[in-house]
Amino acid sequence: MLNVDISNIWGEYTLNDLLSLEKETFDAHKLLLEGKGPGSDYLGWMKLPVFEETEEMIRIRAAAKRIRESSDVFVVVGIGGSYLGPRAAIELVMGSNHNLRGKDPQIFFAGNNLSTRAWNELCALLEGKDFSVNIISKSGTTTEPAIATRALKWMLERKYGADEAKKRIFVTTDPEKGALRQMAAEEGYETFVIPPDVGGRYSVLTAVGLLPMAVAGMDITEVMFGAASARRDMEAFSFENPAWLYAAARNLLYRHGKKTELFCSYEPDFRFMGGWLQQLFGESEGKDGKGIYPFPLEFTADLHSMGQMIQQGERTIFETVLRFAPPRKKTMIESDWKNLDGLNYLEGKSLDFVEEQAFQGTLAAHTDGGVPVILVQNDEICDRTLGEMFYFFELSCGISAYMLGVNPFNQPGVEFYKRNMFQLLGKPGYTK
Ligand code: PA5
Repeated sequence: MLNVDISNIWGEYTLNDLLSLEKETFDAHKLLLEGKGPGSDYLGWMKLPVFEETEEMIRIRAAAKRIRESSDVFVVVGIGGSYLGPRAAIELVMGSNHNLRGKDPQIFFAGNNLSTRAWNELCALLEGKDFSVNIISKSGTTTEPAIATRALKWMLERKYGADEAKKRIFVTTDPEKGALRQMAAEEGYETFVIPPDVGGRYSVLTAVGLLPMAVAGMDITEVMFGAASARRDMEAFSFENPAWLYAAARNLLYRHGKKTELFCSYEPDFRFMGGWLQQLFGESEGKDGKGIYPFPLEFTADLHSMGQMIQQGERTIFETVLRFAPPRKKTMIESDWKNLDGLNYLEGKSLDFVEEQAFQGTLAAHTDGGVPVILVQNDEICDRTLGEMFYFFELSCGISAYMLGVNPFNQPGVEFYKRNMFQLLGKPGYTK
């Protein structure tokens, strides 16, 4: 079960300072639950985790079965909140090298950049392969996925003919609005819903995340079970609630000058989960001249590039370190009679043991160096712990952003680059 340990954050502030935030934390949580805070039209994510299997989940499972039977490759098209969640989930649970295993369909992501090189590479990877496509876009008008959609649709129609192509295109979008909804209706594609009251970065527990996860071979009922358990367990209005502890601790640190949060994990497969967290917190909190800057790091690799900065650079950072119980299957370090590498002192020790010492050593070094460390601990990585984590971070983020005094559910700043780009591209309605 997920828990938060704040015993490594203390410095010029103490437990009493954290406890003094109780009323603020209470108020922020209450605003969320009662739907009375700014952005309250977008609280649908709070009701998504349920213990019962929904109609939508049954359809997702059925579609995933058909895709798995008919496709060597599944291309997931989307960007931002319509991309990071599914990729984070699949890479964390199935491994970042899942495409090399040959057991499940390969999963490639498209429409999350404007790189010609990346597009050419995808085309080469699809050569001679049977493939299906999932287009994910809430608005249905985002440029990057729209361009990839047009091209992939054309490729499917050329390869299979219009009728078979229709059976290979799956659309995840708003239930009523947008160009993609209209295209799906006109072309007869199977569709899944992003509820209007669920924003992109809070959408991973809708079909946005669940269909790609199911195609990858994950058990989406277990993911939902984990999220629903977190929803039930995190209803408590007290610091027993890990989301309270985390939201209050990061606000306390921010108010004491800790402006950057490093999301650190010792699991390389956590990389895109770090990206998901970065978007969740960055887009939810970074506004009105405020916000903790979220930055994901992979330990131990990044200790060899960022370790110096963390240990002795400007003292404006804190860490949130994600820890999981080690896998049951152990890897032992063997003896070598020549001992040329000098490693025999580790003979008979497990790799987990070495990793644990690296973690403990780093924790002590960084806290000594003035970097507070929040620990978020959970059981072994699996579908259930993933679901639990998704809900925990979404809830914590909502509470934390309200404590910060911002609307967690809008992203007005994202529009600025789009407007400039559309002007430069000469999009109708955007010319100067
Ligand atoms: O979180 C968000 O709202 C954004 O990251 C969007 O998900 C992203 O811009 C893609 O938008 P859409 O799903 O409408 O294509």
